[in-house]
Amino acid sequence: MVQPDRLAASLTEEGRYQLLIEAVTDCAIYMLGPTGIVTSWNPGAQRFKGYAPAEIIGQHFSRFYTEEDQKTGLPARALEIAEREGKFENEGWRVRKDGTRFWAYVVIDPIRRSSDEVIGFAKITRDLTERREAQQKLDKTREALLHSQKMDAIGQLTGGIAHDFNNLLMVVIGSLELMRKRLPDDPKLMALHKNAVQGAQRGATITKRMLAFARRQSLRREAVDIAQLVHGMTDLLERSLGPSVHIETRFPLLIERALVDANQLEMAVLNLTVNARDAMPAGGRIVIATREESIAAGDASGLKPGRYICLAVRDPGTGMDEETLKRATEPFFTTKGVGKGTGLGLSMVHGVAEQSGGRFTLQSRTGEGTTAEIWLPVAGTQAHALDQIQRSAVGDAVVDHGSLVVLAVDDDALVLTNTIAMLDDLGHTGLPASSGQEALDILRRGDLVDVVITDQVMPRMTGLQLAEAIQKALPGLPVILATGYAEMEPGVEARWPKILKPFTEAELAEQLARIVPETRKSRLLLNFRTGKI
Ligand SMILES: Nc1ncnc2c1ncn2[C@@H]1O[C@H](COP(=O)(O)OP(=O)(O)OP(=O)(O)O)[C@@H](O)[C@H]1O
Ligand SMILES: [Mg+2]
Repeated sequence: MVQPDRLAASLTEEGRYQLLIEAVTDCAIYMLGPTGIVTSWNPGAQRFKGYAPAEIIGQHFSRFYTEEDQKTGLPARALEIAEREGKFENEGWRVRKDGTRFWAYVVIDPIRRSSDEVIGFAKITRDLTERREAQQKLDKTREALLHSQKMDAIGQLTGGIAHDFNNLLMVVIGSLELMRKRLPDDPKLMALHKNAVQGAQRGATITKRMLAFARRQSLRREAVDIAQLVHGMTDLLERSLGPSVHIETRFPLLIERALVDANQLEMAVLNLTVNARDAMPAGGRIVIATREESIAAGDASGLKPGRYICLAVRDPGTGMDEETLKRATEPFFTTKGVGKGTGLGLSMVHGVAEQSGGRFTLQSRTGEGTTAEIWLPVAGTQAHALDQIQRSAVGDAVVDHGSLVVLAVDDDALVLTNTIAMLDDLGHTGLPASSGQEALDILRRGDLVDVVITDQVMPRMTGLQLAEAIQKALPGLPVILATGYAEMEPGVEARWPKILKPFTEAELAEQLARIVPETRKSRLLLNFRTGKI
């Protein structure tokens, strides 16, 4: 038997080159004549360009180029450059025999006889489609990560500012309300007062949107029939959007309910439809549609596996260019001009969708309209459990309970004074405490208290911790959490009745009426006497 090394050595030089070229299968290596006619073809070229040697030898190499490149004369230019500069190198789309495109890395070298005479070209092509796709995927993921980090950072900042403003506005709105009752009957004063209330309320709407974007809005999640919710909004939409816009709804006959805060979802739909109207200066038709979708594990959307309801709002309006689309959900990003848009509409929608365990997506192109989609988890059995918890937390409402002693807890002195003043105005007795510890001390002292209302976000002891301590020692004493935040687990949160900050006197009265059973005082007294606290 002849040794392989010997066999290779016995070949002619030409034979060895032939073997070499034919062994390469991941590169197309072939020769062109001086005008670009294919004169040789290797298996690599056949593998990813799809032509057998007999089909392609004798043809012009320009057929590998896209129509666009052929029109601009790229094939001829490539040969010219290779001849003039000694090499042509580039990346671009090329076409296979079956018409599909691949991303190619191409090198063309001139082949010269002894003198300067070019007798042809050596062409090496590599298929980089997969590598390019992988790189693009990586770039996209990186960009998405950066974007979500940026949104998180803005969210933290916005949430912090909104929390402080929420407290301040609560003081302003509360004090204005109390002031009104004491104002002399002077129409001028009344008008100024009304202005101040409206201004403060607009401020409160803005802080609520900011909190929603920062995912810190307190959500009351329940099973919501979206079709019913949208139909219930018909009047509101007609009034807000004006006569030039027509709304068309497309809801399947049977669709699961979504787990979401109904009020927040209404706000979101209103924001999306107002945006749609603004994008259609001459008026037009907005389509609101729902569909049910299943998301499998590892889905590109990043949603947890499960069933979702997708609520879509479509308009055929101006659409957005890429830059606007990228920034649309950022808080305070608006193209509507000073005083016209706050740039918080989509931020709010985005925050509510995320906080509800769903997603918000936007698709848009300049001149082609926009589709905004809110994805929400299907309510299923989870909502039922949540409903039960919420119902038991509220208990059976007792309407008339006369004057109450209310222990009010807040670390913000202004807010505390305001709450006490409201209680006073409602005919109750307010006991102020500036921390959870101070509240517990008051209770230990044995003061008669009917209900505790506490801020959630406080240093050292949060409202929730205080509520739990009270529940252990005095199981019957109701505690209301006052919060503009939702940093509690939905289940835990639902165990306690809540009031959203900033609250009005009427809201406070309503919440008190809902939760204080008549027997409260006597039961409390009993607990103190038996030394349970
Ligand atoms: N349906 C749409 N068509 C075209 N552009 C849109 C659409 N929705 C949003 N945009 C663009 O996104 C920007 C941000 O929207 P967003 O709702 O957050 O704020 P806004 O509408 O400008 O202000 P506000 O909601 O306070 O009125 C808009 O200014 C607009 O440029
Ligand atoms: Mg808007």
